[in-house]
Amino acid sequence: MNNHTPVIAIDGPSASGKGTVAERVAAALGFRYLDSGVLYRVATLQALRRGAPLEDAEALATIARDLEIAFRDGKLWLEGEDVTEAVRTEAVSAATSRVAASPAVREALLARQRAFREGPGLVADGRDMGSVVFPDATLKVFLTADVATRAERRHKQLMEKGMCAKMADVVEELRQRDARDSARPVAPLRHYPDAVFLDTTRLTIDQAVGQVLAWYRERAGA
Ligand code: C5P
Repeated sequence: MNNHTPVIAIDGPSASGKGTVAERVAAALGFRYLDSGVLYRVATLQALRRGAPLEDAEALATIARDLEIAFRDGKLWLEGEDVTEAVRTEAVSAATSRVAASPAVREALLARQRAFREGPGLVADGRDMGSVVFPDATLKVFLTADVATRAERRHKQLMEKGMCAKMADVVEELRQRDARDSARPVAPLRHYPDAVFLDTTRLTIDQAVGQVLAWYRERAGA
């Protein structure tokens, strides 16, 4: 990989807070930010809209490859339509972890993810940022929190968006999604050995951001 632009890879389970932390770390360093999960989400939304069977790997990969998307004004656009909220529903979340298990879909989204690597640097969050997409990342973090804390965070987010959800359902959905993401043979969610472990159960967002920045500065000698 002949690209010297530094990358901070932050991987971890659903609702661990990795997106918020990654976004803030990127802002602090003036780096770009990639939310890789949103690419899997938008591919899934398009597949659902087109009525593509979620078992049809080839059809899904074609959809993923041909996606016409843009990130503008803090929103996600699919073929000119604002789908920022539409990709976050629980139905799309659940279907996404099935679609993301397909190696053909992952391959189709690879180049798109790597294209985010532009100066001065990139912070990327997902499940396989450090293991597959940016194996030469300067810093790799596995960010997690216990399932009760993650469920509380997700529940709060949903309520803030005016989406009703029962706590028990949120916990169940997180467990199922973690299990699917961890059990798949290709690019599973895993704490790979060269990633530093960050448990945010008892940390504030500022503390988590501060820790990632400190590790990065140590590695980068900045
Ligand atoms: O991070 P987020 O919860 O938005 O991701 C949605 C789903 O996309 C995950 O449950 C996972 O199945 C998939 N995903 C993935 N690889 C990534 C990012 C997300 O498989 N790098």
